[in-house]
Amino acid sequence: MLDSAVNPNKALWEKGDFTRIAATMRQSGEELVASLGITAGLSVLDLGCGDGTTALPAARRGADVIGVDIAANLVAAGNARAKAAGLYNLRFEEGDASNLGGLADEAFDLVLTVFGAMFAPRPYDVAQEMVRVTRRGGRIVMGNWIPGDPTLVAQILKISAAYTPPPPTGFVSPMTWGDEQQVRDRFQSAGIDNGDISFERSTWFFRLDGPPTGLLETFRYYYGPTMNAFAAASTAGREEQLAAELKELFTAQNRGGEHTVIPATFLKVTVTKN
Ligand SMILES: C[S@@+](CC[C@H](N)C(=O)[O-])C[C@H]1O[C@@H](n2cnc3c(N)ncnc32)[C@H](O)[C@@H]1O
Repeated sequence: MLDSAVNPNKALWEKGDFTRIAATMRQSGEELVASLGITAGLSVLDLGCGDGTTALPAARRGADVIGVDIAANLVAAGNARAKAAGLYNLRFEEGDASNLGGLADEAFDLVLTVFGAMFAPRPYDVAQEMVRVTRRGGRIVMGNWIPGDPTLVAQILKISAAYTPPPPTGFVSPMTWGDEQQVRDRFQSAGIDNGDISFERSTWFFRLDGPPTGLLETFRYYYGPTMNAFAAASTAGREEQLAAELKELFTAQNRGGEHTVIPATFLKVTVTKN
């Protein structure tokens, strides 16, 4: 088991309670899984699975699903959800997308990672590992946020970064997984042909029964990256400025009137391993 005291990637995601954000994403998770042609008996790895926004719908379709995530609290939450749903074809375990040592070569028909593996360090290793555990003829499907995109999540991360100290030298931004050329480079270096990598822009929705400021509060108090930004802003005496910038963003992006329905554009990457 990894130690969050020495692994900043793990510590970031064990911070707060990502299940509170995940609760606003369930419908989009269902819809994405419905688009993937998942059938009974398919072997699926959900990487950076959180508490199972996509893993549970995949298992409900009869697939044999393993969810792997670096955050121990999210793995526990996922296993509790699987048990409550009576899904014995789904289990969650701790692991790092940069090194899937515990998983056999060519074990999965589908490796799915929705805003998950993009947050792991060493992206070339991540691509290599995803390709290694995918069987020939199988697929890798990634959902990645897009750098510079004007919609919600890219903007939250951009605004938050402006209040947070610069990352250590050598840190590769997770947002680089939203750049098609970088994605091609990483999978090609893992042995995938250029023609077996395809891209599509798609929309994810955050939904809450309540105003968009409620969703902002959820990000402020439960989402590791935003929590870190607020902590840094508070130290610099700029907490209210950050809150105001984010309030403007969440309010402007809301399409749900009194309630919250906020779309966010993402890059859907599909890789076939031939
Ligand atoms: C934005 S959340 C998305 C969670 C889930 N896929 C969903 O859609 O609800 C990012 C997830 O990636 C996980 N993660 C971050 N770095 C990871 C790594 N190195 N290996 C595995 N999981 C990681 C986090 O713990 C978190 O659950």
